Amino acid sequence: MTSTYCVTLEDVQEAERRISGLIHKTPILTSSSLDALAGRKLFFKCELLQKTGSFKIRGALNAVHKLPADQPIAVVTHSSGNHGQALALAARMRGIPAHIVVPRNAASCKKAAIRGYSAQIVECEPTDQSRADVAAQTVDKTGGILVHPNQDPAVIAGQGTIGLEVLQQVPEVQAVVVPVGGGGMLAGIAVAVKAIKPKVKIFAAEPLNADDCYRSKMNGTLTPNLSPPNTIADSVKTSIGPNTWPVIRDLVDDVFVVTEEEIKAATLLVWERMKLLIEPTAGLGLATVLSSRFQEAASDLKNICVVLCGGNLDLGSADWVWKQEL
Ligand SMILES: Cc1ncc(COP(=O)(O)O)c(C=O)c1O
Repeated sequence: MTSTYCVTLEDVQEAERRISGLIHKTPILTSSSLDALAGRKLFFKCELLQKTGSFKIRGALNAVHKLPADQPIAVVTHSSGNHGQALALAARMRGIPAHIVVPRNAASCKKAAIRGYSAQIVECEPTDQSRADVAAQTVDKTGGILVHPNQDPAVIAGQGTIGLEVLQQVPEVQAVVVPVGGGGMLAGIAVAVKAIKPKVKIFAAEPLNADDCYRSKMNGTLTPNLSPPNTIADSVKTSIGPNTWPVIRDLVDDVFVVTEEEIKAATLLVWERMKLLIEPTAGLGLATVLSSRFQEAASDLKNICVVLCGGNLDLGSADWVWKQEL
């Protein structure tokens, strides 16, 4: 069944062999107070503790190490966020240059993190068109290979290794809740988990303000966000794309949308109860599990894994925290 998609279980298993010595096997942590709130057992897959502070290093390393030995001159991507940092580190580990196209108004801490991994920053205007144009020009100029943040099959396969680890670490798991932006992590996990344990449910968690995945599932056709979304979950503003959509359409059981207030409350709960400094995007999973729609739809599922996908957050700009009422 999975052979019709851009990534197969074998691709994910191969990615695991390729990257396992290079990344952390992140822990699963639990919290009895959050279990009590959710009314079931929650298993948190702690990708915030992954190298570069997010799961993105999995896909970046797989993509960079998959390049033939005689081919790579450089890699290029457009991402001011976690993929930019991850590709920068992956390229440095492989000993090749990385050119990261970043909007000129990106936070200076993000640019500093990318430079900290020895990558070159190429500035563009803060529009999708400019990002794509400047990335294409950079590929022409450097001879580098473009590694797309969420539609590159090697990236999707790398992210899918989270699914393999979850099945090993939590054999009793009945559902995995995965934040979705471009859908690379969701599609990779879905391909891996459904091929090995088809009965395990895969649920997507998405901000209501960036609900392209939800609307695509409702419409039965790829339905990207029309205008740039405004959400505190800033790592998932991207829409799902042509490679991730078929997997999401067929293998993802349901998509849950949550409000900004629910995301903020869930993020604070993880900070306070688990002492884990997640970024708001990683609050999407818990926000989903605590939402009334999920409580109704998934009442029979007792063992749920929530992917805490990242911890890269600019504390200086997290002023919403002080306005939040728990
Ligand atoms: C922390 C974090 N979580 C989730 C996502 C969404 O991943 P994807 O685009 O593969 O859906 C991203 C993407 O940048 C991310 O950085």
